[in-house]
Amino acid sequence: MKTQRVLTGITTSGTPHLGNYVGAVRPTVRASRLAEVESFYFLADYHALIKVGEPARVQRSTLEIAATWLACGLDPDKVTFYRQSDIPEIPELTWFLTCVTGKGVLNRAHAYKASVDKNNAADVDPDAGVTAGLFMYPVLMAADILMFNAHKVPVGRDQIQHIEMARDIAASFNHLYGEHFTLPEAAIEDHVATLPGLDGRKMSKSYDNTIPLFAPREQLKKLIMGIVTDSSAPGEPKSTEGSALFQLYQAFASAEETAALAQAFADGIAWGDAKQALFERLDQEIAPLRAVYDELIQEPERIERTLKAGAEKARAIATPFTARLRHAVGLRPLQVAAAPAARKGSKAAAPAFKQYREQDGLFYFKLIDAQGDLLLQSTGFAAPRDAAQAMARLQREGSAALEALATQLAIRGDAAEVEAALRSFTESDA
Ligand code: TRP
Repeated sequence: MKTQRVLTGITTSGTPHLGNYVGAVRPTVRASRLAEVESFYFLADYHALIKVGEPARVQRSTLEIAATWLACGLDPDKVTFYRQSDIPEIPELTWFLTCVTGKGVLNRAHAYKASVDKNNAADVDPDAGVTAGLFMYPVLMAADILMFNAHKVPVGRDQIQHIEMARDIAASFNHLYGEHFTLPEAAIEDHVATLPGLDGRKMSKSYDNTIPLFAPREQLKKLIMGIVTDSSAPGEPKSTEGSALFQLYQAFASAEETAALAQAFADGIAWGDAKQALFERLDQEIAPLRAVYDELIQEPERIERTLKAGAEKARAIATPFTARLRHAVGLRPLQVAAAPAARKGSKAAAPAFKQYREQDGLFYFKLIDAQGDLLLQSTGFAAPRDAAQAMARLQREGSAALEALATQLAIRGDAAEVEAALRSFTESDA
């Protein structure tokens, strides 16, 4: 089986909080350590421009999120860790995808629709204050995912629609231009808790109820002491059900520790003591990470170097892939002979030889790759048997036969690709 490619991004529009840590950073760092996955993690700073109009905040957030990921144990040697805006192929791919995306599909995207609904409710123009960036958000996200042919995309529930759109966009492109893209799937971690914030609602920047992941110890303590609780007095049994404090504890503690706190709730622990227990448990996990974070954040140039190295790794994939896509859509050097268009919907899984007769009455063969792109095309043969013999020789001898047959080949594609395709024939014979 091919290794699973897992990819996810975080928009660089704010300071990471406990909800981001429990919901995204911690599970993805753990998953990245599994041997059978190849992970791509990136800072979605192009996405940040959609929501944030403050350059300094975008820059600061990029630094903070990168430092967070590294402090939490992401190993840039094991994964591909990069900044979206270091990959110029992504906006290029965004344009290719834009051209196969129905406008009506984007009209139905949740984030855009929410803005329109709000405007309608306020009786103003439906698109008031809506940028084309917000409208195009799902296409940029599809480019992030499809560029690396990710199989799995770990995201929160609110992003499922975007992954489905990426699938649809990939399918449209494949249908038109050949099988270039893997259809991605959302990976929703059901057992990962959605953390409540200070007021008991979902922890979220938009509710202003977050606890910054790397708040200094004293500030963390103060914030925890401010978590909303009910008015039950010390000694009164407390319900764990719906308690933000309890849920936060559970997200960090072992099953035994959690059971012990549940017992303490039943026994009437004072809220102040419960908050102290939560603070200690949180700080136990966070303190060592905070120490690394505080060091990293002082050395932006080190993070910059790490990201640049990651971009190089990412571009080793993105640059040749984009070249292939440019060719597929018809952005080609003019001297290259036009290949017959890949048949729509063709699903050839492996390179194949095809023999055919042209209008000129001569017999030809060609070699196409798994995507239906032309690799070799013969000159015309008067007799079908001669075409068949040349073809059989290539299948038998592989690229070793190329030079002997040079005068009978009208088109030769990229040498490495031709060689790889021919190898699939000689190997299947062995
Ligand atoms: N839209 C995602 C969010 O706000 C961030 C993101 C951008 C992303 N591109 C992505 C996530 C690609 C996964 C894959 O959470």
